[in-house]
Amino acid sequence: KKKITTQTFAEMKAAGEKIAQLTSYDFTTAGILDRAGIDSILVGDSASNVMAGNETTLPITVDEMIVYARGVVRACHHCLVVCDMPFGSYQVSREEAVRNAVRIMKETGADALKLEGGAEIVDTIRAIIAAGIPVEGHLGLTPQSIHKLGGYGLRAKEEAEAAKLLADAHALDDAGCFAITLEKVPAKLAAQVTREVKAVTIGIGAGPDTDGQVLVYADALGMTQGFKPKFLRHFADMATTMTAGVQAYVDAVKTGGFPSAEESY
Ligand code: KIV
Ligand code: NA
Repeated sequence: KKKITTQTFAEMKAAGEKIAQLTSYDFTTAGILDRAGIDSILVGDSASNVMAGNETTLPITVDEMIVYARGVVRACHHCLVVCDMPFGSYQVSREEAVRNAVRIMKETGADALKLEGGAEIVDTIRAIIAAGIPVEGHLGLTPQSIHKLGGYGLRAKEEAEAAKLLADAHALDDAGCFAITLEKVPAKLAAQVTREVKAVTIGIGAGPDTDGQVLVYADALGMTQGFKPKFLRHFADMATTMTAGVQAYVDAVKTGGFPSAEESY
């Protein structure tokens, strides 16, 4: 299969072909996703939660994101790899943002970067795009601002916030973002944004009418315990599968059934 680029994303939007994105943070998992036909992998800063066990995405660093993204890029031959810029790496100044963006691109081989926010970071996004780096925006529930938002609930329910989100989407689109993540917003608003912008929209908890969908792979494959918001569907039950495998291994070791003569040198 041909390598997917940001141009391919635009062609898919024009053709009405949906874009399937999942997160991944490591070589082994990314290889499975790429071979299974995923269009895009997001090396999300959700690695802070999924890989490092933090409560929020705030603590993860550029250095850590680079390690995760490198492993993913090495495994991917087909899909488009997007890497999140972590909290603190693009908010201080435009110069520092471009420096961090260039560093992540250089040291990981990712195809594009994702930043959270609208009008307030549009100049930063323009500067990164001017450096030749494709940028995906992220609006609605933006977890790097969790302390400002006060919770992980639905965003843009009220008219004022919906109008701000629509204006932000246009600002990102005008700046040249190739994609915009829409997280936890009403389906109707996500549909309107999708109709009005050139960028592809990738929804999570944003209804069926975005150009694509994204989920955290560990959530989508049923590995995460005790997290089942309404927008999430389990497409596999990996927790049960892995638990059974681990139990079978423990049992085989304890009963002397593993390794067998054939498995010994
Ligand atoms: O970090 C992440 O996993 C994300 C997706 C939920 C969009 O940003
Ligand atoms: Na993220």
